[in-house]
Amino acid sequence: MTTHFNYPTPAVQEELRKIAAAIVAPGKGILAADESTGTIGQRFVKIGAENNEENRRLYRQLLFTADKALADNISGVILFHETLYHKDDNGTPFPKLLQDLGIIPGIKVDTGTVKLFGTEDEVTTQGSSTLNFLMWKNARSGSWDRPMTTGIHISLIRAGLLDICGTPSWAYHIILPDGDHDLEQAQKVAETVLAAVYKALNDHHVFLEGTLLKPSMVTAGQSCPKKYTPQEIAAATVTAFSRTVPAAVTGITFLSGGQSEEEATVNLDAINKFNGKKPWPLSFSFGRALQASVLKAWGGKPQNIKAAQNELLKRAKANGLAALGKYEQGSITGKAAGEGLFVKNHAY
Ligand code: 13P
Repeated sequence: MTTHFNYPTPAVQEELRKIAAAIVAPGKGILAADESTGTIGQRFVKIGAENNEENRRLYRQLLFTADKALADNISGVILFHETLYHKDDNGTPFPKLLQDLGIIPGIKVDTGTVKLFGTEDEVTTQGSSTLNFLMWKNARSGSWDRPMTTGIHISLIRAGLLDICGTPSWAYHIILPDGDHDLEQAQKVAETVLAAVYKALNDHHVFLEGTLLKPSMVTAGQSCPKKYTPQEIAAATVTAFSRTVPAAVTGITFLSGGQSEEEATVNLDAINKFNGKKPWPLSFSFGRALQASVLKAWGGKPQNIKAAQNELLKRAKANGLAALGKYEQGSITGKAAGEGLFVKNHAY
């Protein structure tokens, strides 16, 4: 930690700020299509599609050619490494396809998680690369009784990555929903973890205005016997974030974390409707909650492509409204809207 360091040049600051702000423009958020080969394979199994490279290309092509209206609510797409090099049937590279729609392509920088030696269930990520924006994924733990001390300290080291990359970046912290902890405990863990994340980013002199935060919403554990309303979830989330996330951060884009599509949308909407201190746009960066209906409608069959694309447009619209606090529960239906998407010990 030093007090002798340089801020990025004004031109770099402006560029970073501009891209980060475009991603959280009003009513817009991110489509997280960065499932690793293994993870997308688990989703393909459910719809009876084979997990081969051509099917993965066809599926992502379906997403990225849905319609130009997709850009009304989707500002960016996170790609998996393999997808970065894929082309559509006409030979256009996927990143170009997205840029032509006015959507910013980004990349997940890690190459998967590794177990942290000497911890109970904690993992952290490895690897890096860059594009228009990049995502820095941090450690996580399935344990709610033991704060993730080791993972938190690793974050001090990982924060250096954002420091050296001249791209708008995302601090990404996952708190898994496994367990029976209640909402209050979830809020305490979120506050502890987020405070450590921003201490680490400060130690590395990260230009916060060029960053977004991608966190879990504060929700009780999957097996908690007590159920909470979207308003209670919103209160816990906004309170935790207002205590720990600096106002300089350009935006917060939540992951869906195993909530059903409708649940994730309703909770995001409640967060935006909640009357609290919220100096940043609060939007989405959903994977499962934007794709469950799409996958179900597609079923790996070419004749279903249009129907699947429609599902994506509907979910994007619903979440765009939720990012503005203007979604009405149940007003936009989906083929899998109510289905739980929780995966035990999910590996992102
Ligand atoms: P989920 O919305 O499925 O939790 O995943 C989003 C994500 O983080 C992928 O990058």
